Amino acid sequence: MAAADVAGGVSFALTDEQRELRALARDFAEKEIRPRAADYDERSTHPEDVIAKAHEVGLMNPHIAEEYGGLGLPAFDGMLIGEELSRGCSGIAVSIVANTLGAGPVLLAGSEEQKRELLPPLLAEPMLCSFGLTEPDAGSDVARIKTTAVRRGDEYVLNGSKTFITNAGHAAWTVVFAKTDASQGHRGLSAFVVPMDAPGVTIEQHLDKMGQRATDTSAFSLHEVAVPATSRLGEEGDGFKIAMQTLDFTRPGTAAGAVGVAQAAYEHAVEYAKQRVTFDVPIAMHQGVSFLIADMATEIEAARLLVWQAAWMLDAGYGRRATLYSSLAKRFAADTAMKVTTDAVQVLGGYGYIKEYPVEKLMRDAKLFQIYEGTSQIQRLVIAREIFLPGD
Ligand code: CAA
Repeated sequence: MAAADVAGGVSFALTDEQRELRALARDFAEKEIRPRAADYDERSTHPEDVIAKAHEVGLMNPHIAEEYGGLGLPAFDGMLIGEELSRGCSGIAVSIVANTLGAGPVLLAGSEEQKRELLPPLLAEPMLCSFGLTEPDAGSDVARIKTTAVRRGDEYVLNGSKTFITNAGHAAWTVVFAKTDASQGHRGLSAFVVPMDAPGVTIEQHLDKMGQRATDTSAFSLHEVAVPATSRLGEEGDGFKIAMQTLDFTRPGTAAGAVGVAQAAYEHAVEYAKQRVTFDVPIAMHQGVSFLIADMATEIEAARLLVWQAAWMLDAGYGRRATLYSSLAKRFAADTAMKVTTDAVQVLGGYGYIKEYPVEKLMRDAKLFQIYEGTSQIQRLVIAREIFLPGD
């Protein structure tokens, strides 16, 4: 898995367009996200107004192709947006960028007709969609999903429940993964586009989280929900692979968000270390503090480069080989965000631990990166399998 054989010809210099895009996202985060972060965190408020503004300036749905009304930006550019928005507040940022996950299965496996029906409305208005994979008894082990979809004539009827679904409480539609053949394990899963206002869909709960509290994370149930057979994405039995391929595409974006949180914590720690005086010198002059900060800087840069490499591989069409790099980036960036934010709290001492200062929120926010879109342990499992049993 030497990087050299995949990274030939790479330049770390961003194009003018990429620098402009990054500046746009940074400016948006400074003006529209940061000022609201503490309040939305405190009240666990869905940031509808910020989503609308992000949509207006073109920071949502960056990957949807021009033929459906989008910009058709590469995965790499999405990383630049994701890091900057998350540097402002990962809770608000995830609400904005989660359409990439929700619409991922449609982009990957939708027919031309499905794409023409589902994608343009996401560009026309700040509409949300979500990714309905996880269930109360099936998170890491996707093949254990119990939601069923039974074919009846021209329809499928879905029954089951989903939980921990980002934006589900505000989504127009969700891609629901359900068993069409319970005897086939992962090969019995299929994917369906389910309107969230369909009879039988009920939002059961907005989950009250530790961090990233501005993002709506909801549980919902499906009771005798009938959808046309034409809402199935791909063939019956394709669901597991559609889910995995979507996650291959989105995990580097999640990793970029983790880098943004780590970067914010690092900046706060550096500023504080320059101001705070102990034993007659700024604490930055004490090796115990400066080495913590030196490690933060090193690990953030390493995480960012892994994110960029994974995105570059996705854009270069490495297909299944990008799976490995996607999980390398997600694992390392999530764990880095946790470590950097914990150390930033340490640098600020008592001030780091109180809500008046921003780093305690960043530490709470960081934790979720080690859990959603595949825990850090699942990333290690994927990495180990791709080393010893690489996929085609
Ligand atoms: N691309 C294409 N195919 C893939 C693939 C990939 N990345 N990964 C696996 N497959 C294929 C395998 O080749 C295999 O194919 P065959 O049917 O031909 O044999 C099949 O899929 C089954 O693969 P595995 O045997 O590896 O499957 P598994 O049951 O052992 O599970 C797993 C593998 C990696 C643990 C997987 O279940 C997984 O990723 N789990 C974590 C799920 C996850 O990330 N959930 C997050 C939900 S989304 C979220 O959090 C966001 C939110 O809204 C909050």
